[in-house]
Amino acid sequence: MKIDGTPFRTIWVDETDHWSVRIIDQTKLPWALDLPRLTTMDEVAHAIKAMLVRGAPLIGAAAAYGVALAMRADAGDANLNHAIEVLGATRPTAINLRWALARMAAHLKPLNARTREAAAYAEAAAICDDDVATNQSIGKHGLPLISAHAHGGRRVNILTHCNAGWLATVDWGTALAPIYMAHDAGIDVHVWVEETRPRNQGASLTAYELGKHGVKHTVIADNAGGHLMQHGDVDLVIVGTDRVTRSGDVANKIGTYLKALAARDNGVPFWVACPSSTIDWTISDGLSDIPIEERAGTEVTRMTGRALDGSIATIRIVPKDSPAANPAFDVTPARLVSGLITERGLCAATEPALAAMFERHVEDALI
Ligand code: MRU
Repeated sequence: MKIDGTPFRTIWVDETDHWSVRIIDQTKLPWALDLPRLTTMDEVAHAIKAMLVRGAPLIGAAAAYGVALAMRADAGDANLNHAIEVLGATRPTAINLRWALARMAAHLKPLNARTREAAAYAEAAAICDDDVATNQSIGKHGLPLISAHAHGGRRVNILTHCNAGWLATVDWGTALAPIYMAHDAGIDVHVWVEETRPRNQGASLTAYELGKHGVKHTVIADNAGGHLMQHGDVDLVIVGTDRVTRSGDVANKIGTYLKALAARDNGVPFWVACPSSTIDWTISDGLSDIPIEERAGTEVTRMTGRALDGSIATIRIVPKDSPAANPAFDVTPARLVSGLITERGLCAATEPALAAMFERHVEDALI
């Protein structure tokens, strides 16, 4: 997608040295467009952990390039295993991380160490290109869900949570891909962007990328979504996901579950954009089996933004001695999900429907 007319992906190999990895530092958005160079596997691991790159598909792509940088330094078996272990431990909930590392391991382990560096860069690039193609397909399959509400040229109001746009992927996004396509097709689409406390991915990232593409949007407090649904101001909800179990339970950014409950109570369709790399075929019960990342309480007790004098400031918003808890994701049970928008088409959030769509069988699940 474009930023001020320049096409960007969220991760790429530096065009001058042809080996270092460039990213958009998302902790600086929307105040600054900073494009750091990552030169070691440890720098990639830090970028994932500290959320310079974030969003399930992008975390996977970044980890793949982390393996490539590790192979550049030392392509032996021990370092390959070490890189996979270190990168795999950076964040626990998004399954794309493990999916990408498993793909890199399967590709590289049979190879002679001398050929691993080039093969690792090629496979990381393939993971990125596949992600872009997957998200384009999700966009195409999701577009009819939006156009169905656009009769007579009426405005379609969509609510989304967190950031599942192009910044969370390599390009296009998952939940936002159908929205960009609807906008580009001339549909009058408007997005309610939930700010998504505590890290504000909605307010700082979704609002930023929608604005840069010219999509109408309004930022709302996380607590406003239910009220808007009660008043008929939301035609559908589309969110992304960090992990979907084989029976269709959905882990996504904290607060998603409450929106699914409000959507059900108000008869609003609740769709989840889900690339196949986000499905964890090894587990069924999302509540008991998906590890939920606990992040630092300081993400709750502090806020960062642009002060009135133009400087970037971090302030404390909670009394000094009050502790804070920060579960970063929640699980929406499959029964509250209208369906999944996948690269293969729309799919019910059920085990038989998912298995049929991806030709998986229960006995494959533990692979
Ligand atoms: O903690 P984050 O910012 O990495 O959260 C992940 C997300 O961006 C969202 O949960 C998103 O909806 C899924 S990623 C397309």
